[in-house]
Amino acid sequence: MTDDVLSFSSLHQGLVSRESLPMDQEPEILSLRPKMLAEYIGQPETIETLAIAIQAAKKRGEPLDHVLLHGPPGLGKTTLAHIIANEMGGKLVITSGPALEKGGDLIGLLTHLGEGDVLFVDEIHRLPKTVEEFLYPAMEDFAVDFVFDKGMHARSHRYRLKRFTLVGATTRVGLLSAPLRDRFGIFRNLDFYLQEDLVKITLRSAELLGLKTTKAGAYELARRSRGTPRIVNRLLKRVRDYAQVRADGEIAEKTVEDALKLEGVDQQGLTKLDRSYLTTIIAYYHGGPVGIEALAATLQEEADTLVDVIEPYLLKIGMIIRTSSGRKATESAYRHLGFEID
Ligand code: ADE
Repeated sequence: MTDDVLSFSSLHQGLVSRESLPMDQEPEILSLRPKMLAEYIGQPETIETLAIAIQAAKKRGEPLDHVLLHGPPGLGKTTLAHIIANEMGGKLVITSGPALEKGGDLIGLLTHLGEGDVLFVDEIHRLPKTVEEFLYPAMEDFAVDFVFDKGMHARSHRYRLKRFTLVGATTRVGLLSAPLRDRFGIFRNLDFYLQEDLVKITLRSAELLGLKTTKAGAYELARRSRGTPRIVNRLLKRVRDYAQVRADGEIAEKTVEDALKLEGVDQQGLTKLDRSYLTTIIAYYHGGPVGIEALAATLQEEADTLVDVIEPYLLKIGMIIRTSSGRKATESAYRHLGFEID
């Protein structure tokens, strides 16, 4: 499946590249991803909505409605795009908003799609406006309009596309324009996973990797994975290394604790950057409120990284709150980091 995706001609156009894959999307981690809906753990409402829509579309012999998935990174948006293509029996073509710089980039992808194929556009909120406008007729009428010449000589030609499904993914649904948002028939938010589902995912991945695991070990790893399957799988590989070199190879509670300590992942699953973020608000800005740009400048991080990657989980577990005047650390953050509450 992966090769099928990457062998598409867009790879040669530089719209999709192997090099741009983050470390935690390396082949061994990708192979841990569920390939069909029946294997998927968690997000029960989303899975049921998709299962019904897919079965109904297949019964009618139609492509699936366009799907918009939103939520923090690592919760399964790309995995679901793969699953949708597998379930519908179509090919998956992957690209992202920032990779599509000109209308022609998108048209190149659209005109190569076959009936029932899936086009996955990650970070769809970063699609340039000029490119977005080509998507409207493509999504609505399965057509693209080419315009030749300019001014009074302008002529347009409508090119018919095969009926495809667009799967859009975004961490910032609020940045999507209304016309784009309104063209999706299925709209789902992915939330952080429940502890019990993360334990199941840990056990499933450990089994696929052929690892011996205790219940307490799986529980501890799941508890420290920030509600995120991608983090479960990444940490599991680090714990596997540690277990094989420094322990007896088994994923046991103590081994998980020791391995994650080395990784800088604490009792609550917070990373070094999470702790620097909280410490900066508490120690530098007296607990806040502080604006995101000031915080990003102090931490020397991109504001987008803080908003997309760091804040969603800290908000979820109640360590920060967002007010109209900025971010504030809560009592629970003070307690976790061992600061006096003043
Ligand atoms: N691996 C990563 N995410 C998963 C999920 N939601 N279910 C099963 N295995 C997974």
